[in-house]
Amino acid sequence: MGILKQLKPNIHSVGAVDWDRRLFDELIPLPDGTSYNAYLVKGREKTALIDTVDTIMADVLIRNLNQLGVKDIDYIIANHAEQDHSGSLPQILDMYPNARAVCTQKCKVMLMDSLLIPEDKFITVDDRETLSLGDKTLEFIHAPWVHWPETMFTYLREEKVLFTCDFLGSHLATSDLFVTDGATVYEAAKRYYAEIMMPFRTIIKKNLEKIKNLEIEIIAPSHGPAYNKPDFILNAYGEWVSGDVKNEVVVPYISMHGSTKKMINYFVEALIEKDITVRQFNLSKTDIGKLAMALVDAATIVIGSPTVLVGPHPNVVYAVYLANALRPKLKFASIIGSYGWGGKMVEQIVGMIPNLKVEILDPVVVKGFPKKEDFKALNRLADEVLNKHKEHNIV
Ligand code: FEO
Repeated sequence: MGILKQLKPNIHSVGAVDWDRRLFDELIPLPDGTSYNAYLVKGREKTALIDTVDTIMADVLIRNLNQLGVKDIDYIIANHAEQDHSGSLPQILDMYPNARAVCTQKCKVMLMDSLLIPEDKFITVDDRETLSLGDKTLEFIHAPWVHWPETMFTYLREEKVLFTCDFLGSHLATSDLFVTDGATVYEAAKRYYAEIMMPFRTIIKKNLEKIKNLEIEIIAPSHGPAYNKPDFILNAYGEWVSGDVKNEVVVPYISMHGSTKKMINYFVEALIEKDITVRQFNLSKTDIGKLAMALVDAATIVIGSPTVLVGPHPNVVYAVYLANALRPKLKFASIIGSYGWGGKMVEQIVGMIPNLKVEILDPVVVKGFPKKEDFKALNRLADEVLNKHKEHNIV
């Protein structure tokens, strides 16, 4: 049996649920699996397939199309060139030789480069261009940088369904067509935003503006369940991309012989006493996606590291590199750490975060195990975090 649920009459979900996948791009943890959603839209005259699936699950898409008895496809809409949605496109084009891939000009070039699809298989569309399926109209809305430069959305006007591909999606394997467990989907969607979309926060704001006046009954992304209450995800994104930060401190750290851990624990307790929310992550064990999620709303990051060969611990380097690449809206940063005989750990960490528009609060770095005056310095840092949050009305 395939997954042949209907979003609306003549609009079927024909993609694949990948329950077992635990890593994306050999980088991003997928604790809840994922899905590669594709949708078949049958019009009175023409049929369109919205996106395909990762090549590893092409057989599921093909089985679903066969099960629906699809003899012809006229258009295969490629909202995004990344292979988890386009990987099966060459196979589907072979199965349906009259079909043409419909995408932005940039997407065409990327698909020709990466999947070696011949140029005559494409129709390119401009922003707001339309294609008629007879009784249904597909409108293409260019939405660059969610999260590649070639991305677009497809709006099915008469049915008020917006197909957004990666945008507004979630890495979540589920048998549900629509959101049923809001808390689970919120968490998965926030993780997805943090890992994939957050670096493009400013441009995403513009893309949200672009769809603001559309009448939308269903948002159908290409990962995770669809939304039949679109405000659920639109409001969440509105909050995440806003400039607002919360009274939260993210504390990624690692400790080799206990000095840094002693200081981090003391500092975290001092923050908690001041009613500041803390999210502490031991980087030797942390799911990096959880750290990314914590960075979505936090006002401050305080990084804890021992000194290894004059610099920060390599796990800290990795986390700081990711934090810098993800460009969260942090306002303040500091460092807590220790060394045995010297080093440039603080300078190296500060040099690694040019994308973070943060004020650096005086670090606390000690020789060996922390002493009385070092705990005083940690109290000073906790006071400073509180004062900075108050000055900036971060509550
Ligand atoms: Fe789900 Fe950017 O691919």
